[in-house]
Formats: sequence, structure tokens, C-alpha cells
Amino acid sequence: MSAASERTMSMSSQRGVFSSKTGFILAASGSAVGLGNIWGFPTNAAENGGGAFVLMYFVLAFCLAYPALMAELIIGRHTKANMVHALQIISPGRTSKIFGTLTGGYGILVASLILSFYSIVAGWMLAYLLEPLTTLAGLDDLSDWLTGNSIARNLLFTGLFLVLTCSVIAAGVEHGIEKWSCRLMPALLLMLAGLIVYVLMQPGAITGLKLYLIPDFSQLGDPKLIISALGQAFFSLSLGVGTMLIYGSYLRPEENLPAMGAIVTLVDSSVAFLAGLLVLPALFVAQQQGLNIYSESGSLMAGPDLIFQTLPALFAGMGKVGTLIALVFFALMSIAALTSSISMLEVPVSFTIENHATRRRSATWLAGIAIFAVSAVIVVNFTALFGLVVTLTTEYSQPLLGLLLCVFATWVWHRDMILEEIRSGHPEVEYSLFWKIWPGYAKYCCPLLIALVLSQSLSG
Ligand code: PFF
Repeated sequence: MSAASERTMSMSSQRGVFSSKTGFILAASGSAVGLGNIWGFPTNAAENGGGAFVLMYFVLAFCLAYPALMAELIIGRHTKANMVHALQIISPGRTSKIFGTLTGGYGILVASLILSFYSIVAGWMLAYLLEPLTTLAGLDDLSDWLTGNSIARNLLFTGLFLVLTCSVIAAGVEHGIEKWSCRLMPALLLMLAGLIVYVLMQPGAITGLKLYLIPDFSQLGDPKLIISALGQAFFSLSLGVGTMLIYGSYLRPEENLPAMGAIVTLVDSSVAFLAGLLVLPALFVAQQQGLNIYSESGSLMAGPDLIFQTLPALFAGMGKVGTLIALVFFALMSIAALTSSISMLEVPVSFTIENHATRRRSATWLAGIAIFAVSAVIVVNFTALFGLVVTLTTEYSQPLLGLLLCVFATWVWHRDMILEEIRSGHPEVEYSLFWKIWPGYAKYCCPLLIALVLSQSLSG
């Protein structure tokens, strides 16, 4: 055996593992709960019929995204490998192995591309987190620079955010991912709860609450609403790109997979729902204070203007309390982004460690530098590239990859192996409702429904 393959084997035998159930739940929920929940979900809901979108989202999250999440978790825990290797292991024939290699490679590429645009947005959050402090210190020029949209600021803060992400991943599964998820997720939930209570007590909040919660059922059958809700659900549960697969591969055999997946889906959907209780009421509090909350097209403010103009203006109008609220809000956004970005970076890093016999530290910084280079290209050509990369990765690639993973789990792999894998943490699974529904559902319904929604979105 060559020295390199010996080193690979010894490295893979030292694969990381989540030391506890809570550690896994917080890490996987941390991956799921991100900017998609706190920014994307409420604004998507406001644009697509309020409560009707919320309803559709919950239905799709549990009926389509949860089964796809289970496919990833089961493949991951069984193979204990990165996405490429995992799909090779479960593929019996030569052709399916090649197809598995290509799908795995595509997943790793998409995860890295998502991280390259995600870290730009996360960098904005870090800059806005510092701004209240520099304003308090009287450093007005610095405050203007932090909130001005310059290339230099964007490069610096994207880089800073990637350094934070790399520092966590370089420390490994237990001492990096698990330790930081266990610290950051409770802080995130506390901050979110505190902000909701404060905002709901302000004048105007109830109008936003009504818009959010009262469903406009006439929009329920609108393909745009369904496509947006499915895209949101796949992005929010971090599906298709191997993050859940790799987290599943660090899960101990005695854990109950269907229950773990259900808890993660529930936490993710609940946090998205809670974020709506914060963002939409906050918009109408801003309107009460005389701020404009509608864009030029007449729709409710949703894009970067909402987060980086309307909300900061609202906070600024609240005096000293506003400074604290701004700090907490942007800390919340930064934490949400960090627990998600670490899961994205783990995808190329685990591949590099396992396939190229590289040490975790080197693999992490290497992947981090490559992703920063792509982010820099996007920052410099922002108008041409940013929207394009977001659409290609999240709207098309994630659902397509989710579909492919369902196909691999149920058409390529053996049903008996899946049963055996789930049984290790749930001995009676054979007699459970999950096993009565999931195999057939993930085999026929999921791929068909995802393909249907994808074709709708492709046809515009
Ligand atoms: N789920 C994250 C969010 O809602 O912001 C985004 C995300 C994380 C997408 C990890 C993809 C991924 F692999």
C-alpha cells in the first residue's frame, strides 16, 4: 500500500463524529437556519400571499424537503464519506458509479458557489454589526464607509467572514462545528425572541402581523407561489449539495434518523415562521415612523433595501435603544449566516481531506482561499454575476440535486440496506409509519413532484 493511501485510510478512520444528539441537532439546524430563514422567508411570504405562502411552505417542507433530507442523512450515515465517495459506494454498477461521481462533483461545486455569494451577503451583515459601535464612538467617516457599498468594504468583510468560517471548520467536527453550533444557536434563538417581543410592542406592528398571518387563498394555486415555496424550502433545509449528507456521516449509529430529520425540519420551519413575526411587523413600524416601505414597483420592500436601508433607518429613529436593537439584529444575522456557512465549507473540505489525503487545516484554508477568489470576482462584477449565481445554484441546481439524491437512495441503492441503516438507531422502523410511506414516496412522488416544479420554473 502506498504511503498516500495509508495516510488516507488512517485519516478516514479518524473521521469526526458528533458527540451528542443535541450536538447534531444544533449543527444541522444551524446549517438550515440562516439568512434564508430570517431574510428570505418573510419577504417571500409578503410577496406571495402572506399566510397562503406560509401554509404552502409548511406543506412542501414536510412533504418534499423532509423526504429529500432523509435521503441525504441515510446515505451519509451509511457510507461515512463525502458526497462523491458516498454516491460511488452506494452505486453497484460502473455506469451508476460514474453518474454518482458526476452528481457528487456537481454538489460540491454548487455548495462552494453558494458559499461564495453567501459570504458576500454575510460580510454586509458584519459591516452593519460594527456600524452602531463606530457611530457610538463618534467615528462618522468610518461609519459611512461601513455602510457605503464600496468594493473595498465588500472584499474586506467577505474575507473576514470567510476567515471566521475557516477558523471553525479547521477545528474539526466536534471542536469546531459542534462546539460553535451549541454556543451560537441558543444565542440566536434568544436574540430572535427578544427582538420579536420588542418589535411587536411598537405602534404599527399589528398591520404587518395581519399581512403575514392572514392568508390570501386566491394565490394558493399560483405556480409562482409554489415555485418560490419549494425553492425556499430546499435552500432553507440546505438540501442537495451534500451538507446534510456530510453531517449525517458524522452521526452515531445509535441515533434515530427519521426523528432527527423531523426535528431539524421542525426547528428550521419554526425559526422561519418566527422570523416573519419580526421582519414584517418591523416594516410596518417603520411605516408608522414615516419611512417608505414600498419599492418603486409598488410591492413591499424585500431585497437589500429592506435590510440595509429601511431597517437601519428604523433603528436610527429609535434613539439609544435603536443602537442596541441594531446591534442585536445584525449579530443575529451574522450568527445565522456563520452556522450555515460552516456547513457549506465542510462539503469541499471533507472531499479534499478524504480524496487527496490532505490534513483538515490545509484543506480548509485552501478551500477558503479558492472560494474567496470566486467571491472577489462576483464582488467586482456584481451586477452581472450575483443574481446569476444565486439563480443557477439555488433555484435550479438545489432542487435538481435533491431529485438526483432521491433517485440514488431509492432507485440505485438497495431498499434492504436502507432499512438496515435506519434500524441501527430505530429497531422497530419496519413497523413504523415512516417506513410504510417514505420508500415509495421518495422513489416515485418526490422525483416527480420536484421535476414538475422545476420544469415550471424553467419554462418561466
Ligand atoms: N439553509 C441556509 C439558509 O437558509 O440560509 C442556506 C444554505 C446552507 C444553503 C447550506 C445551502 C447549504 F448547503
